[in-house]
Amino acid sequence: MSASNGRVAGKRVLVTGAARGMGRSHAVRLAEEGADLILVDICESLPTLEYPLASPEDLEETARLVEKHDRRAITHIVDVRDSTALAAAVDDGVEQLGGLDAAVANAGVLTVGTWDTTTPDQWRTVLDVNLIGTWNTCAAALPHLVERGGSLINISSAAGLKGTPLHLPYTASKHGVVGLSRALANELAAVNVRVNTVHPTGVETGMRPESLHELLADKRPDLVPVFLNAMPIVMAEAIDISNAVLFLVSDESRFVTGMEFKVDAGVTIR
Ligand SMILES: NC(=O)c1ccc[n+]([C@@H]2O[C@H](COP(=O)([O-])OP(=O)(O)OC[C@H]3O[C@@H](n4cnc5c(N)ncnc54)[C@H](O)[C@@H]3O)[C@@H](O)[C@H]2O)c1
Repeated sequence: MSASNGRVAGKRVLVTGAARGMGRSHAVRLAEEGADLILVDICESLPTLEYPLASPEDLEETARLVEKHDRRAITHIVDVRDSTALAAAVDDGVEQLGGLDAAVANAGVLTVGTWDTTTPDQWRTVLDVNLIGTWNTCAAALPHLVERGGSLINISSAAGLKGTPLHLPYTASKHGVVGLSRALANELAAVNVRVNTVHPTGVETGMRPESLHELLADKRPDLVPVFLNAMPIVMAEAIDISNAVLFLVSDESRFVTGMEFKVDAGVTIR
């Protein structure tokens, strides 16, 4: 498949959290099918998190992988919590690419703890990045989408649909992304902007808080079944989620809006 006749040929797409993990995978899969990309990432670690976030080199590597498919990549190091800086970065990318067709709000963070050890700082950081950051991404993209229509894809989680324990702020934030997206889908349907959420099961990425495994093994083995997929795999792969994102960016999904797209190996039916 050459990029010029790909499934999203000529589309211009914003991806946040694009430096590594699923964000990188979405960007590269979209480039493979002909899209140009605006790639945003914070590229520094946050003290509240027990695992490191991406580096500037990671973001450059994603851009290089996009360019390998002869597509354009505009990079900006921005924290999605900073709505002003994010809007400026998106405006700049849109000016360089000549427009915007879709945005993937993918940046997200995870803290771990039982109900009685979860701190206000964890609540604020996770809600700020995962929920308000998703809103900031939609808000930065929308002025460029409302004229011609477009697609907003907000990355939630299986934890956005079930009561996944031991990370209350994360589960609450990912449920919040669903409410935000459903309501926004209603407001924007009239101008042909579609809004959908994607719900991955566990995927091996840089989001690796070791304490989750310790908590499950040492303190709450009774909760292990909540995390088990119905299908016989431990984890999905990033590409499985990227293929769902690709469909939602493409015109193949032109009348799909307000949907919760599960790529979860059945974890939410358990
Ligand atoms: N990995 C999983 O098992 C899993 C499962 C379900 C949903 N998700 C969701 O998928 C999305 C991608 O996660 P991933 O697994 O690739 O994790 P990851 O940690 O590998 O990647 C997340 C990226 O987001 C960036 N980021 C974090 N905070 C940011 C901020 N404030 N501003 C800008 N960029 C920021 C990080 O630097 C990193 O590059 C997240 O929303 C996550 O919640 C992950």
